[in-house]
Amino acid sequence: MTHSMSLSVLERRQLSRRVDAGLLRELLSDQSFQTPTMFLSQSEIGSNYRSLKAALPRVHIHYAVKPNNHPLLIDEVVRQGGNFDVCSAGEIDTILKTGINPAGLIHSHPIKSAWEFDQAVARGVEVFVVDNQEEVRKLARYRDKRLKILVRFRIGTIRHAVVNLQYKFGCTAGEVLPLARQVEQSGHEFYGLCFHVGSQCIYPENYVKAIQTSHELIHALETAGLNVRVLDIGGGFPVAYVEPVPAIDNFCAPIAQALDRDIRPGIRVVSEPGRFIAATSVTLICSVVGKALRDGKIWYYLDDGLYSTFSGIVYDHCQYPVVTAKEGAGRLSVLAGPTCDSFDVMYDGLMIPEHEVGDRMAFMATGAYCAVSGSGFNALRRAEYTVVE
Ligand SMILES: Cc1ncc(COP(=O)(O)O)c(C=O)c1O
Repeated sequence: MTHSMSLSVLERRQLSRRVDAGLLRELLSDQSFQTPTMFLSQSEIGSNYRSLKAALPRVHIHYAVKPNNHPLLIDEVVRQGGNFDVCSAGEIDTILKTGINPAGLIHSHPIKSAWEFDQAVARGVEVFVVDNQEEVRKLARYRDKRLKILVRFRIGTIRHAVVNLQYKFGCTAGEVLPLARQVEQSGHEFYGLCFHVGSQCIYPENYVKAIQTSHELIHALETAGLNVRVLDIGGGFPVAYVEPVPAIDNFCAPIAQALDRDIRPGIRVVSEPGRFIAATSVTLICSVVGKALRDGKIWYYLDDGLYSTFSGIVYDHCQYPVVTAKEGAGRLSVLAGPTCDSFDVMYDGLMIPEHEVGDRMAFMATGAYCAVSGSGFNALRRAEYTVVE
């Protein structure tokens, strides 16, 4: 597992679509800006969007706002012709600032408080997700509307995504038909099916299996007189952090084939990617604010940690590649955060050249599920965004 690399290695590997090594060199040596800072690349957002769209030409993209709700991401998705997946009134308000029609949004949260549900309906959202009877019962509140309801199901898979979203949500395939009937009986429209194979899913076969199940469910639903207008294949598309992942066109090829084979053209296929659009658009630059030698390891204390931008290590089970400007032999090192808590340690056992207080380090692909899940613990300064390109 490669956690760290020097700038010269980065340059040789020509990872420059994701990272402009020249720019990174400047950022690591430039002491004129305050750290921690998240550099957000507009061109990277557009490029990620276009490569996913090219890999799945039939699929309409609804960017899932949860991994990163920065206005630049939202604006760039609009510019690329995309729409959105939202899960709260707060996210809806962020999106509606762009002037987008709320009727086109997908509210993807299968369990909504009555307050959240009311707020979304009041703002004009029409497409919602359910996965159980109690949630369908909530629809009775909206007698004067005809909301469009997707039923989310789960499939059994041998290998799970890094973040298993089928643990908490999704009915069984056998529960879909009764739920769809219950939706229609409540006076709302059964609109179609959705699934989410889990986030950072490196197994395209999991999507293929879910698409095959969708095919069978669509047949059963239509035989029972229930129209299926939409299939939502969720998000989950993987990003290269410290481990390589397949190129997105290779990864999506079997998914695109399964859609062509199993889902008739009249059904609108949508997807809710979050991580794939957002992750590589951000590079975090931190400074070493303290240094100590403890038990044969060099401990570096950085100005960002697990309670802030690195919260993705905890909640998203992620490790971000470290890039250093220093050359030389690696020394056994620990990178810790700035809070008083001993839990606040990001990397233990990292081999990096020796650094001094004031030196900077870069952390790649920190644009998804990082800043959004951080807290203000210890009231320390949190990383701010700077937009590049
Ligand atoms: C319902 C739903 N849709 C989309 C996403 C985005 O998934 P990803 O970031 O893996 O693409 C998530 C992530 O939690 C989700 O829960």
